[in-house]
Amino acid sequence: MRKKIIAGNWKMNMTITEAKALCDTLIPIANTNEVDVVFCVPSIDISTVVEKVKGTSISVGAENLYFEDKGAYTGEISADMLVDAGVKYVIMGHSERRGYFHETDTDINKKAKKALEKGLTPIICCGESLEQREMGIYFEWIAMQIKAAFQGISAEDAAKCVIAYEPIWAIGTGKTATAEQAEEVCGYIRKVMEEIYNKETAEKIRIQYGGSMNSGNCKELLSKPNIDGGLIGGASLKEEFAKIVHYNA
Ligand code: G3P
Repeated sequence: MRKKIIAGNWKMNMTITEAKALCDTLIPIANTNEVDVVFCVPSIDISTVVEKVKGTSISVGAENLYFEDKGAYTGEISADMLVDAGVKYVIMGHSERRGYFHETDTDINKKAKKALEKGLTPIICCGESLEQREMGIYFEWIAMQIKAAFQGISAEDAAKCVIAYEPIWAIGTGKTATAEQAEEVCGYIRKVMEEIYNKETAEKIRIQYGGSMNSGNCKELLSKPNIDGGLIGGASLKEEFAKIVHYNA
């Protein structure tokens, strides 16, 4: 049985002062061993949030990393820096970074390899646009993203990763995929992982859904057999996040 993982993606939100206040609100109500809870936060907030979650079951994630170890990469942050700061997870391949910052499948593969090399857990995002959904080519698109992301990664390392299925048309729109739509794609992703590796690896890897998940729809989504958690944007910035963590209460 795969342990559920509920991760908040704070995106570009929360000054250090705001992050302290949000942690003071969320930690008492979201700290649990029932599921894995992760706060993925902007780099500026990492040290603050790592300090705040000390002594709890909550882990901290980063929202990005660069795949070189160090050097002349102005503005970037390395895996070693994240590990040294107490970070355990790192999001990569988010559609916002693919879209706004032109990250490629190759970039994401390099980031995943570097994260695994340094002992971080990658949260590898994939998902189709509304046009691709309407054209019925979302399986092909997502399979391409997954195969590219896992190129050259061993079965043992692949099983350590988390995959986040985030249909672009559901991100920040309030237009959540139905539980059936989300399960269909998460089940397909697991089949692709079985093709790439084997059934054991495919069964081990955890697959989240992301895209307007909230306290009202999380129970149905998280009850699906191939949905092992959520990657939460807007709802992670408020008390509602704790209701998603305790979806099965
Ligand atoms: O990474 C999670 C995010 O893309 C989902 O955002 O606001 O639709 O929950 P939101």
